[in-house]
This record gives sequence, structure tokens and C-alpha cells, in this order.
Amino acid sequence: MENKNAKRIIIANWKMNPETLSEAKEILSAIKKEAKKIENINIVVAPPAIYLGRFKTGESDDVKLAAQNMHWEEKGAFTGEISSLMLKDAGVEYVIVGHSERRNYFGETDEIINKKLILALKNRLTPILCVGESFEEKRAEKTPEIIKSQLTKALENIRQKQVQSKNLLIAYEPVWAIGSGTTPSYDDVLSANLLIRKTINSIYGRGIAEKIPLLYGGSVNAKNAGGFIEKSRADGLLVGGASIKATEFLGIIRQLSII
Ligand code: 13P
Repeated sequence: MENKNAKRIIIANWKMNPETLSEAKEILSAIKKEAKKIENINIVVAPPAIYLGRFKTGESDDVKLAAQNMHWEEKGAFTGEISSLMLKDAGVEYVIVGHSERRNYFGETDEIINKKLILALKNRLTPILCVGESFEEKRAEKTPEIIKSQLTKALENIRQKQVQSKNLLIAYEPVWAIGSGTTPSYDDVLSANLLIRKTINSIYGRGIAEKIPLLYGGSVNAKNAGGFIEKSRADGLLVGGASIKATEFLGIIRQLSII
């Protein structure tokens, strides 16, 4: 997203945290309070699904909602699942698709991810598509190959007209950086971002490739956050662990608001 005036985006992926609704409300209200003071950043929170309905937001709300997952069918006999239509009804605007924890622990394949993307776009949820290599793949110098392959397969049969500039976000999340306290260098994230834009360019052309917002995720904290924006040319961040510690997360928001 080369437009300097475009808003940055910070997404809080709470994963399976916190344990109670009251803790969740406390964190959200701290984030909302900060969001009121900050105009140049879009703040999105992805709580566990059970809290989503309780957090219903409106058009004017400063903090938007994301789901961490959705099913690839609209309705039917899928015990334990949540559909895109239910998410829409709960006021959700974004959905994380293809997170490595879903790929690794729940067997989500590129094909499933592709189906979810198709449905999310159809039902006007903005997908946050996650891609990234494992430690073994990095060691074998396969990072570019993995990023390209995950992106291409996720976007199969999705036409250019369905992917307009703001209705798809792509997050580069190296699996080995998630929850580990270790991050890639800013240069490595820059290379990944350039490769993502190049791949999008070859699928959808320059107009979309230049505008599609790219996020970085993996052990982001208040200290390293700014560098991913300034040095790696990311448009935003996808934050896990640090997003359920209100002080740390507010620190990240403030960092981004001043650069
Ligand atoms: P951490 O910030 O805890 O490394 O998690 C990143 C992540 O998986 C966000 O989706």
C-alpha cells in the first residue's frame, strides 16, 4: 500500500484467550479508550468466537471486529462450526483465514483456505490471509517458494473483480516467529513483502498489487513494532501474545501512530 495517507492497521489476534468474558471486556475497553484518541490507525480485534456477539460494533465504532476462523459453507450440518453469515450478523467485518495454527493443528489445507476466502469475499467479510514458512522450510531456504505457493493456491479461481484494493489483507507470519520471541530481520520481512506484491501483481496486475495492505505478524511487541512499518514497508501488524496485555498492545498502537 504505497499511499502514504492510507491508514495503518493493527489487528489483535487473541487466539484462545482470555479465560473470562469480564477480562475480555476489560482489555477491549482499554483498547477502545486509546482508539478514541488515535485517528490514523484502524484497530481490529479478533477475540474468541464466543465473545464476538457480546462485542457487537457499529459503523461508527473505533474498534472493528474480526473472527479468527469461519466455515467454508454458509450453513448446514457442521457441528461446532460458525458461518460467515453468522459473523456478519454479529457485526464482524474481518476474518482471519489460513493462520498457521489452523493449518497445523486443524489440518487446514490450501484447498480449504481457498474455499473460505471465496465465501468470505462473497459475503463481504474482509479476509486476512496468513502465509509463512516453517522453521524447516526456512532452513531449507524455501521461504519464497512457500509464500508464492500458499498465496497462489489460496487465490485460485478468485477473479480480479472480487479482490478490490481494500477487501483482502495479506499477513506474512513466519511460523517459527509466532509466540517464540524471535523475529525475522526487517530486511527479511521487506523481501517477503516485495515477493507478496510481485506475486499479487502476476495474478491481479499492478493496480491491486500496489494497494493491497500487507501485515507482518510474529512476536511483535512495542519495541519492534515500528521497524516493520518503517523498514519492512508493512502497512500494519497482526499481533498475538502482546495483544492480550493491554499496556503492551497500547504501546504498539502508540508506536505506529507517531511514525
Ligand atoms: P505472537 O504475536 O504471539 O507471536 O502471534 C502472532 C500471531 O500468530 C498473530 O496471528
